[in-house]
Amino acid sequence: MSKARVLVLISGGGSNLQALIDASLKANSSFEISHVISNRPEAGGLLRATKASIAAEALDHKSFKERAFFEDALARRIDHVTPDLILCAGFMRIMSADFVNRYEGRMINIHPSLLPNFQGLNTHARALEAGVTLHGCSVHWVNADVDQGAIIGQACVPIFPGDTPEILASRVLVQEHRLYPLCVEAVASGRAKLIHGRTFLDGLQGGIALLDNS
Ligand code: GRF
Repeated sequence: MSKARVLVLISGGGSNLQALIDASLKANSSFEISHVISNRPEAGGLLRATKASIAAEALDHKSFKERAFFEDALARRIDHVTPDLILCAGFMRIMSADFVNRYEGRMINIHPSLLPNFQGLNTHARALEAGVTLHGCSVHWVNADVDQGAIIGQACVPIFPGDTPEILASRVLVQEHRLYPLCVEAVASGRAKLIHGRTFLDGLQGGIALLDNS
């Protein structure tokens, strides 16, 4: 069976991209990363892709007068590559409903909270402010409602007294690097599917759940 071809969208350092690259290189992996696109030319993740001999390019959103022009250019690049899956890995652009709907069922994102809690930005500071004792990350299908697509998997971490947003972010990031590759492998192998807006894993509604293993 041929491997699923994956395109990864990034904006920053690409630690999630690196975890995905490492997982894709394992012998029994069901996916291969064929292309990386960053909306920021200075993104460190571009170097990670190049070092892994993966085609990498920057499409600087600031060089487009309007958001729609950037999205059109990005869609042209994606459609030229014809990936089976498009992964957002630290991709910090909010895309329009038209763009997202074009790739529904093929686009996946990782978000640093236990959705539906703490959608949006500054999730770690907000979790501390809210006084919750469990936090984590979620991998979900991308749809037009930001951070509200069906969940594919979640990993949770404890919040300890004295935690700062930075400490919490680093604890969550360790779990992101476990969770994302597992979820992508499940989708690429056909174990996880999006059916009528819900995730099914091995034929049953539900997804992957990880506990902090540190
Ligand atoms: C990660 O915390 C991810 O959850 C968020 O962006 C952060 C940076 O990710 N979406 P990376 O190191 O660039 O992969």
